[in-house]
Parts: sequence; C-alpha cells; structure tokens
Amino acid sequence: MKPTLRVGIIGGGLMGREAASAFARWFVLNDFPVTVELVAVCDLQPALLDWFRQIPTVRLVTQDHRQLLASPDVDVVYVAVPHHLHEAIYLDVLTAGKDLLAEKPFGIDLASARRIRDAAAKSGRFVRCSSEFPFLPGVQRIVEWVRSGAMGKPLEVRSCFWHASDLDPSKPVNWKRQVRTCGAIGVMGDLGMHVVHVPFRLGWYPTRVYAQLQKVYHQRPDGKGGTAACDTWDNAMLHTEVVIEGMETPMRLEMKRLAPGATNTWSLEILGTDGGMRYSTAEPKTLWKFDRAKDQWWSRTDLGFQTPFPTITGGIFEPGFPDCFLQMWAAFAAERAGLLGSRFGCVTPEEAVRSHEVFEAALASHERRAAVVPG
Ligand SMILES: NC(=O)c1ccc[n+]([C@@H]2O[C@H](COP(=O)([O-])OP(=O)(O)OC[C@H]3O[C@@H](n4cnc5c(N)ncnc54)[C@H](O)[C@@H]3O)[C@@H](O)[C@H]2O)c1
Repeated sequence: MKPTLRVGIIGGGLMGREAASAFARWFVLNDFPVTVELVAVCDLQPALLDWFRQIPTVRLVTQDHRQLLASPDVDVVYVAVPHHLHEAIYLDVLTAGKDLLAEKPFGIDLASARRIRDAAAKSGRFVRCSSEFPFLPGVQRIVEWVRSGAMGKPLEVRSCFWHASDLDPSKPVNWKRQVRTCGAIGVMGDLGMHVVHVPFRLGWYPTRVYAQLQKVYHQRPDGKGGTAACDTWDNAMLHTEVVIEGMETPMRLEMKRLAPGATNTWSLEILGTDGGMRYSTAEPKTLWKFDRAKDQWWSRTDLGFQTPFPTITGGIFEPGFPDCFLQMWAAFAAERAGLLGSRFGCVTPEEAVRSHEVFEAALASHERRAAVVPG
C-alpha cells in the first residue's frame, strides 16, 4: 500500500483552493509512489470554509490555525496567507512538528526569511517554497538544454513574470498592494520567486544588482467608496550579473504588475554563442530554439505534455497553470519521500533566502542609483 500524504491548508483563498484542486486530481499521476489526502483547512472566511466542505476527505475546517496544527491527522501543511503572516504561521507549523510547503516570498523580508530558514533547519522538518512554472514541459526542456552544454559561451539570460490587471486604476486595492501586508519589496515579493527559481537551480546567483523600481499608481479605490494608499512597487527591472561557465553574464529579472496585455505571463530566454532557447506561457505549447551553423535560425517546436511526472493526459495535449501546480506538488511529495531522483525540485529554504538577498539588494540599488552586491 502506498503511503498517504495527509495535507492541511492554512489560507483557503486563491492558492489554497488551487492546491485543493491539485489534490483532487492526484490520480492523473501515473504510478506515483505517494497518495495525497486533503484532511484539514483553516481560513478566516466562513464562505471559503464552506467551499472546502464539498471535499469528502476534509475532516476539519477551522478559523484557528492552531487547531489545525494540533490535529494528529495532518503531516504536511500548505500555507497560503498574506506575506506579513508568513513568518508567524510557518514557525507555528514547524513547532507543531509538521512539514511545510510555504508560499513565496517565504517571509515578508530578508530577516524574516533567514529566521524561517534557521527554524526549518533546527526543526529537521521537510520545508520547501512554492514556484510552479519550472515544472512546465517547455521549461524543463530549457533546463535539460542548458545542462547539455549546447549554449556555447553564455551571452545573456532574461527571466520575466508579467501581469497587467493593475493597469486599470479602478481596480480596488488589496493586501498585495500595501507595504504593511505585502512587504517593502512589493512586486518582487509577489512575482520574484518565479523568476529566480530556474536561474538559481542552474547555479546562477546574481553577484551584482542594479534595479529600476516603479510605483505608478499611489492610490486605488478601497472597495468601500473611498480611496486607499497603494504604496508597493508595481514594476521591478533588475539588471544583474551572474557567472556562467566562468564568464560574467548579464541576467535581467523582470517582475511587473503593469505589463500591457500580459495576464500571467512567465517567460525565460537564454542565449549563447552556439544556441538559445525561449519559452513563454503566453504560448504554452511553443518552444523556440536558436541554432547556429553556416546559417543561423530560430525553430519552433510544438510541445506536448511531457511533464516531469508522467500523467494519463495525452502526450499531444497542452499544459496549463493547474498542471504545473500539480507537478510542483508531485515534486514536493517525491522529494519528501526521497524519490525525486534527478528531477527538478521545489525551491529550498536556502534558495528562498537568496532570493530575498537579491530583492533587498534591489531596494538598496534603487535608493542609491548604484549597483549593489547581494548578501
Ligand atoms: N504560487 C503562485 O503562483 C501564487 C499565486 C498567487 C499567490 N501566491 C502566494 O500565495 C499566498 C496567498 O496568496 P493568495 O493569492 O492565495 O491570497 P488570497 O488573499 O486569495 O488568500 C489568502 C487567504 O488567507 C486567509 N487568511 C488570512 N489570515 C489568515 C489566518 N490568520 N489564518 C488562516 N487564514 C488566513 C484569507 O482569509 C484568505 O482567504 C501569498 O503568499 C502569495 O504570494 C502564490
């Protein structure tokens, strides 16, 4: 009989329900060594708790996360709450002796991320942080290609995550648009883990950061007929330097809430003297590859559904957000069981801390209008 991962969710909003959806179709994973069961949910909002009551395996719904953590039925906790609550709740999870899949940015700032990392190490619990896009087939092909050494001498890396809904000034403010709840790093806390996960896993850590940060809308409707301050950074463009194959290489990290026309567009482009690759979720089936011989050319591959963990889904079908989120959870469960092998893994606490070092350097860089060394 396969072992069962018994999960509790703290924070049943957008991402808490996305996780529930991933668990509900866990059986699409072919011959996966671990089964999963969502057993407990905590949120402050009764309407959300009612939504979770439709899931037959959920035995406990509560508005008090300590009650969830006291349950002996819960092995692993997924925490998806506003950033100012990360540290306190993550530490409570570890104190309760549970494993943790933490949502990014893994604490509201660098000091908080370091405290969580240290507590995780001391507890001995299995802790990872969320970032799902690398589990898409197109991204996995880029990782394999880089590792094959086919790039030649590195030229540049560009890793981006763009949103556009904030272009509408009538969109009401929410916790993601206020420093107190989102953090001083603003859009970097929201979108930054997504753009650094692949570069970090390839060993590309910025040695220098020059940042351009933009706050465009300073006020938004408060949703109650008035207005409220909207004081987080909207867009962040980080011009960084990484060492690839011993060569200093420019790497641009773009995190934008104001990117005209982009809904939830994650993209990665890596260029070298012998080859290049480009992938964007705007075209989820398309992988662009650059080759150089006597001629130079970009070729387009129509990708299928070759996810890291095989599923029943037809090999020619196209993947989307719920698929990569399920694959990320599969990677978490496999790694926790010691069965990840050579496959791509979730963000580690150390990587999460290093992401905060980059974002903190970006704040200092923008302030001083100068390049800053992270760390
Ligand atoms: N991985 C991704 O692609 C992705 C996407 C969006 C958000 N996120 C991250 O997920 C986290 C949550 O974001 P979201 O978009 O789901 O936000 P959300 O506002 O939709 O949901 C947060 C939920 O937390 C609940 N909550 C607040 N305080 C609580 C408490 N003390 N105990 C229990 N529940 C509490 C709220 O009632 C709300 O339902 C954030 O860290 C965010 O950065 C990740």
